[in-house]
Amino acid sequence: MRDALLKIQEEALLKIQETEILEGLEGFRIQYLGKKGELTKLLKEMGKLSAEERPFIGKLANEVKEGIEEAISNRKKILKNFQYQRLIEEEKLDVTVNKPMAKQGHSHPLYQVMEELENLFISMGFSIVEGPEIETVENNFDKLNAPKNHPTRDLSDTFYIDKNLLLRTHTSPVQIRTMMQQKPPIRIISAGRTFRFDDVDDTHSPMFHQMEGLVVDENVTMANLMHTLDSFIKEFFGKEMKTRYRPHYFPFTEPSCEVDVSCFKCKGAGCPDCHDTGWSMELLGCGMVHPNVLENCGIDSKKYSGFAFGMGVDRIAMVKYGIPNIRFLFDNDARFLKQF
Ligand code: PHE
Repeated sequence: MRDALLKIQEEALLKIQETEILEGLEGFRIQYLGKKGELTKLLKEMGKLSAEERPFIGKLANEVKEGIEEAISNRKKILKNFQYQRLIEEEKLDVTVNKPMAKQGHSHPLYQVMEELENLFISMGFSIVEGPEIETVENNFDKLNAPKNHPTRDLSDTFYIDKNLLLRTHTSPVQIRTMMQQKPPIRIISAGRTFRFDDVDDTHSPMFHQMEGLVVDENVTMANLMHTLDSFIKEFFGKEMKTRYRPHYFPFTEPSCEVDVSCFKCKGAGCPDCHDTGWSMELLGCGMVHPNVLENCGIDSKKYSGFAFGMGVDRIAMVKYGIPNIRFLFDNDARFLKQF
């Protein structure tokens, strides 16, 4: 019986040692240690042994059983580890592959200018507000004191969505939105897209950009307006730049002006670019906020006054960078854009 036990032990340990299949180990356990296993079967015959032999064989049988159990569990660990290593090997990612670098873009020249303008006005104490591109007729025209028969309301000038909604024709409705929400003192700027029914040419596009400014407080005068705009123009375009305020008409300001700035090319001396006038025309529209507009927004026009201005950002970007044609700004040609 001793020999039979040792034989089972030798055979079992060898098989367990050599197997490469993790799932097969359970089979060996059943084969040797299971209810009908070889070792179990052998042990059933212990009864035939003599009283002297029995403790000795019993002890040996236990050792064999424990030996087999231990071998199975060790082998299990090793095979599990193998399996794990194989998995790591198979799922390894090569992150060193040499791919061409993705091209990195940068902000559009128009938006660079917009940001520069915003920063300048922020430094003068203005804050930034935003307004939607789809506006109500009420904010875009009515509350801005535009007469019902004003030509800019015309279907041939404005993109209407329905009879009450349109693509804003200027950033001035942001004045209304701000004054409806916020009471004086108000000092804001707002830049964004604006839309007019224009054919595309070198200087016109049906979609363009404006920046609006609004200041409302007690005792705000035309002198404050001129000082603010003069400071802005000198800071942005250079100390040598002069301004000229020409009377104009806007429904929402009274008095109203258009502002010309020294020609960017000749700085005022006269050149073909400015038709020898020395001036760059119509850079800005501005004026003192019309009392009707203040009252339309629930602000007491006896107590408060204000000024507003609006400028074309595309135009400013074009003179700043010497861009000859507005189409360049919207064509999205990388050869053009990467120069900025
Ligand atoms: N909204 C005017 C325009 O588009 C510009 C403007 C703004 C004029 C504010 C006066 C005050 O032409």
